[in-house]
Amino acid sequence: MSLAATLQELKDSALVRIAQATTLDELEAIRVEAVGRKGVLANAGKEMAKVPKEERAVMGQLLNAVKASIESALDAKTTSFAAAALDARLASEWVDLTLPAPGVKPGALHPVTQVQRYLEEVFTSMGFAVLSGPEVETEFHNFDALNIPPTHPARDMQDTFWLEGGNLLRTHTSPVQVRGMKRLGAPLRMIAPGRVFRNEEVDPSHEHTFYQLEGMMVDREVSIAHMLYFMKTLLKEIFQRDVTVRLRPGYFPFVEPGFELDIQCSICGGAGCAVCKQTGWVELLPCGLVHPNVLRAGGIDPRDWNGFAFGLGLTRLAMMRYGIDDIRLLQSGDLRFLNQFR
Ligand code: DAH
Repeated sequence: MSLAATLQELKDSALVRIAQATTLDELEAIRVEAVGRKGVLANAGKEMAKVPKEERAVMGQLLNAVKASIESALDAKTTSFAAAALDARLASEWVDLTLPAPGVKPGALHPVTQVQRYLEEVFTSMGFAVLSGPEVETEFHNFDALNIPPTHPARDMQDTFWLEGGNLLRTHTSPVQVRGMKRLGAPLRMIAPGRVFRNEEVDPSHEHTFYQLEGMMVDREVSIAHMLYFMKTLLKEIFQRDVTVRLRPGYFPFVEPGFELDIQCSICGGAGCAVCKQTGWVELLPCGLVHPNVLRAGGIDPRDWNGFAFGLGLTRLAMMRYGIDDIRLLQSGDLRFLNQFR
C-alpha cells in the first residue's frame, strides 16, 4: 500500500474511533496511539525516507494535514465532553431561587417566664423594683432573718437541699425581702421572681424545683386593704377575668397577721382534681403584714415603718392561667407541650 493510502486509512479509522468515543480516557488513548510520539503517524513518518525526493514535499503536507485533522477532531470531541459535563452539573446543582424561603423557627418563652415577664411589667408600672436574689442562700437569710429560728417547726415544712458550709438551696423567694430592705431601705416596693427548691415528693402538683414571685411593700401606714388591692390587681391582670378567691388566716412566722389567698381551681372549676388535691381550691398567694422582727433584720425600724408581703406561687399561677394539669410537664422539656404556648 502506498504511503498516501496508509495515511488516508489511519485518518479514517482514527476519526471513526474519535466519533464513537464516550469518555475522556478513550480519547486520550486514541491520541497517544494515533498522534503520540510513538504513535502510528510517527511510525508512518519514518517511511518518508523511502519516498522519492520529488514526492516528499507533497507527502509531508499530507502527513501534516492528517495529523492536524485528527488533532482537531480530538479537540472538538474533548470540548463537547466538557460541555456535556457542565450541563449535567448545572442540571444537578440547579436551585429554584423563586421558591419561598424555608420558614425561620424562632424560639419562644416558657409559659412560666411569660407569666413572670407580664407580672414584672404590671408591678413595674405600679412603682415596684424587680429584684433577684441568689438561689444558693445562707441559712440566715432563708430562715433566721425571716423569724424562723433553728428550732422552729416551720423549718421542717421547708426541707431543702443543704450544701456544705451551711448554705442551702433557697426554699422560697422570701429571703429577697431581707436583701431588698438592706439594699434599698424604706420606703420600699419590690418584687422578686425566682426559682426555689424543696425536698419534695414529686407528684402532679409538687416539684422539687419551682418558681415563686415575692412581693413586698414597706411604708408609713400600710394596711391589709393596700395588700388586697395589689393582689387583686395582680390576679385581674393575669386572668383577664374575675376569679373566685377566698381569704383565710394562715400562719407564717414572717408575717403577723398572715393569710392564705386561695383561688378556685381553674383546672376542675372547683369540683376537685389532682392539682387542687380534691379540695376545689388552690393556695396561690400567701401573704400578710410584715413581722417587726423581719423589718429589723432588714435594717428598718418597725416603730417608723410597716409593710405587707406576699409569696405568689408563680408555677401554680401559670398552671391555673393555662389550664396545665400536671406540674411535671413544665420541666419535661417536651416540645409537644411547650409549643402550645408560643
Ligand atoms: N415564703 C412562703 C412559702 O414559700 C410564702 C409566703 C407566705 C411569702 C407569706 C410571703 C408571705 O411573703 O407574706 O411558703
